[in-house]
Amino acid sequence: MNITKLLNIKYPLIQGSLARISRHELVSAVSNAGGLGILTSVGMDQAELRAQIDTIRNETDQPFGVNLMLQQPNIPELVEVLVEKRVPVVTTGAGTPAPYFEALHENGTKVIPVIPNVEIAQKMEQLGVDAVVAEGMESGGHIGQMTTMTLVPQVADAVNIPVIAAGGIADRRGVAAALVLGAQGVQVGTAFLAAEETPISSIYKQMVISANDNSTAITGITLGDPVRSLKNPLVEKIVQLEQSGSTKQQLRDLLDGSLKKAVYDGDAADGSFMAGQIAGEVNEIKPAAEIISEMFS
Ligand SMILES: Cc1cc2nc3c(=O)[nH]c(=O)nc-3n(C[C@H](O)[C@H](O)[C@H](O)COP(=O)(O)O)c2cc1C
Repeated sequence: MNITKLLNIKYPLIQGSLARISRHELVSAVSNAGGLGILTSVGMDQAELRAQIDTIRNETDQPFGVNLMLQQPNIPELVEVLVEKRVPVVTTGAGTPAPYFEALHENGTKVIPVIPNVEIAQKMEQLGVDAVVAEGMESGGHIGQMTTMTLVPQVADAVNIPVIAAGGIADRRGVAAALVLGAQGVQVGTAFLAAEETPISSIYKQMVISANDNSTAITGITLGDPVRSLKNPLVEKIVQLEQSGSTKQQLRDLLDGSLKKAVYDGDAADGSFMAGQIAGEVNEIKPAAEIISEMFS
């Protein structure tokens, strides 16, 4: 089925979940503008997730989704809330939604996992998911190994469910390219870091809009969990430590709490400012509605 019909949205655009960042302010703005806003659940307990969902429902009557970052320790409790609240869409990252799929799907929730390769896309199709987001390693945050350019057409050929392209899309050229590659829609993360409504430190937004094509680096390769962020003293330190064979514990100590330092404190030295390679093309802070309408103009 067509992705706009499936999700009941105007534009075939999902705002990718942004850990600790895509809270109700951004989600409601995107959904009100005709895309699908996705609420992060990272760091939330049941009460906070319930409150965020209720706030979104007060701010918009349009569909929205919630993301489960499956590395989080309290996923079963969060799923209970998603079932109770009958959220329209759940996207998942960093793992398989299989243990939670039936409870969500039977409750009427569309389940859309983010996948990094063809094999996992096919497994997800067998599980019965409604669509997949094929995310290339240009993306900000936790990444796989394939590029959007190579991943999207291969996934589109391999499955019969809708494919949504993610990674490196920030304007209408990116949207057009994704559709030509066989995707039915796009998921966008980095461009929304610079949305007016996005509740992050102003330093984070400034770092995104002043980034160029060469401003990101990948850390966490030796931890088996590669993450793309904007280069800063923390990232440079970690890259050096990984090259010199430091212990996993040393790296974890540096990374622990570093996203919070970026999002809330704007700690330019020690924060982890996750963003994708397309940050070089994101040059202005503007309302989410404008970001979306320009992509589909
Ligand atoms: C700051 C940041 C945080 C992210 N957090 C999550 C997350 O918690 N869960 C998830 O599934 N994807 C996460 N992503 C990936 C995005 O949802 C999206 O797929 C990706 O940003 C798309 O690529 P782009 O950055 O090139 O637009 C994150 C991306 C960024 C930039």
